[in-house]
Amino acid sequence: MTQAAVDVVEANGARIPALGLGTWELRGRTCARIVQQALRLGYRHIDTAEMYDNEREVGEGLRESGVKREQVFITTKIWQSHLAPRQLERSTKESLVRLRLSDVNLLLIHWPNPQIPLAETIGALCKMKTDGYARHIGISNFTVPLVEQAVQLATEPLVTNQIECHPYLDQSKVVAACRQHGLAVTAYSPIARGRAAGDKVLSTIGSQYGKTAGQISLRYLVQQGAVVIPRTARVERLSENIDIFDFALSETEMEEIRQLARPSGRVVDWGGAPEWD
Ligand SMILES: NC(=O)c1ccc[n+]([C@@H]2O[C@H](COP(=O)([O-])OP(=O)(O)OC[C@H]3O[C@@H](n4cnc5c(N)ncnc54)[C@H](OP(=O)(O)O)[C@@H]3O)[C@@H](O)[C@H]2O)c1
Repeated sequence: MTQAAVDVVEANGARIPALGLGTWELRGRTCARIVQQALRLGYRHIDTAEMYDNEREVGEGLRESGVKREQVFITTKIWQSHLAPRQLERSTKESLVRLRLSDVNLLLIHWPNPQIPLAETIGALCKMKTDGYARHIGISNFTVPLVEQAVQLATEPLVTNQIECHPYLDQSKVVAACRQHGLAVTAYSPIARGRAAGDKVLSTIGSQYGKTAGQISLRYLVQQGAVVIPRTARVERLSENIDIFDFALSETEMEEIRQLARPSGRVVDWGGAPEWD
């Protein structure tokens, strides 16, 4: 099998492969198999979470792939209801047991929780790094004010904010806040849960390069310096989604794609999100 070359995003000391495999909703053997196939195709970054109920299978896929642990960047996330320090520590250790790893490359707070003081959560997250359970730490679904607070509170560098990012959503404010503090942006739902794959503007641009609309959506994000973590359960799409590092969109095309953003562009329900901004 040929292996694709993937760019790397550097952020506050971390080197994050610019493309990873999202694994939300991948379960059981399907998950283990797709993780294994992704790694064999050249993916070097897998995104999971305790909430996805698939860390065991992600670990299985990693071992079955034959790719060395040291070559793979594994991210997991601590769920919103486990952000009090003792629970955060317990959740982290349980994730590592399920993954059968001694540490993860990146440990994220999955969603902020206004019921628990952020100072306590960030303190506990930093401790997971200094205790050696996580090589890097970060946040997810943090708004601009929360990014600012988290950065002030952290005694260890935060390396990314994982947020919903695709052509239908203008995230420029939170992206600018991340940049200012040296955090990478990890774009989740980077093909808008499949919606971008059927987009006429994206497919017209793609036809110039022999690429699909889905690939253009991913390229648009990567070209802005984001890390993308598309999910698929299909092997042929694994190859398609990684094949985005051999061309570049023009500034005019980037601007055309930027125009697709709408205030109602979110595809992920923010029902459990904080009212802190
Ligand atoms: N931090 C958070 O709160 C958070 C929230 C949401 C997601 N995430 C992470 O981000 C990852 C990606 O986001 P997502 O799963 O919401 O959405 P996504 O990756 O934008 O879209 C996944 C959907 O698109 C389809 N798809 C994948 N590649 C395609 C292609 N090339 N052409 C056409 N359709 C394609 C997949 O179907 P098939 O399986 O049939 O290919 C699937 O239904 C998640 O898996 C998870 O790891 C994190």
